Amino acid sequence: MQSRRALSPDAKGPSRSPPADRRQHESTDTDLKDRHSRMASYLEIADDSEGHDLSLFCVPKHYEEDLDSVIIPNGLIKDRTERLARDIVRDMGGQHIVALCVLKGGYKFFADLMDYIKTLNQNSDKSVPLTVDFIRLKSYSNDQSTNCVKVIGGDELSALTGKDIVETGKTMETLLNLLNECHPKMVKVVSLLVKRTPRSSGYRPDYIGFEVPDKFLVGYALDYNEYFRDLSHICILSDRAKEKYKV
Ligand code: IMP
Ligand code: MG
Repeated sequence: MQSRRALSPDAKGPSRSPPADRRQHESTDTDLKDRHSRMASYLEIADDSEGHDLSLFCVPKHYEEDLDSVIIPNGLIKDRTERLARDIVRDMGGQHIVALCVLKGGYKFFADLMDYIKTLNQNSDKSVPLTVDFIRLKSYSNDQSTNCVKVIGGDELSALTGKDIVETGKTMETLLNLLNECHPKMVKVVSLLVKRTPRSSGYRPDYIGFEVPDKFLVGYALDYNEYFRDLSHICILSDRAKEKYKV
């Protein structure tokens, strides 16, 4: 797997150290901000990324035959989520956040994101008051999005909506229309994953963890017909498993 930070075409890779004579120059505030603004704010997993060999990671025995590879290991998900929490707290400027978790697929990401925000709240001079709510959306059968998005639960207006994955964007656009009927002061959407797909409506969340290839992914609460939520890493589902767990 070749995962890389998405950069504008003229930007250099972020991990490459500049030569000694440029280091001082690059550490000036303006240049640093300029360099950061040229970086896209998500981590891109390339289309030709085949992921990591399953045998290098701990995967439940009952799923070993069903997965092609590990595409995003749990540790990397956590590291990226920690940074999203920092960006959100910085942008919210102390405003009260009603964090709305989109179940079921968003529950792991939501819980980890909230933990990181809580840690920031506990350890800095500035903090954001936080309350949580939960909503359940269902639009998928097998590996296909259906046109019917079912909404269950949720009784508060939302400022921050935590989601597992955006594919076509239909589910999120439906939810945003519903939320906007309640005239919230502000709605921000955080999605761990956005799929690069020709089926996309063009919708982009406000915060994105990773941009991923157009493959069916499971694990870290993402499911295929309710299976694979009990898997820590995000993995590529095999075609054989799509048949095996078909409803
Ligand atoms: P959208 O409405 O097409 O954006 O679909 C988003 C929803 O479809 C997500 O909330 C998931 O429930 C589901 N989904 C889309 N792609 C995947 C995937 O690769 N794995 C698991 N669920 C997915
Ligand atoms: Mg699902």
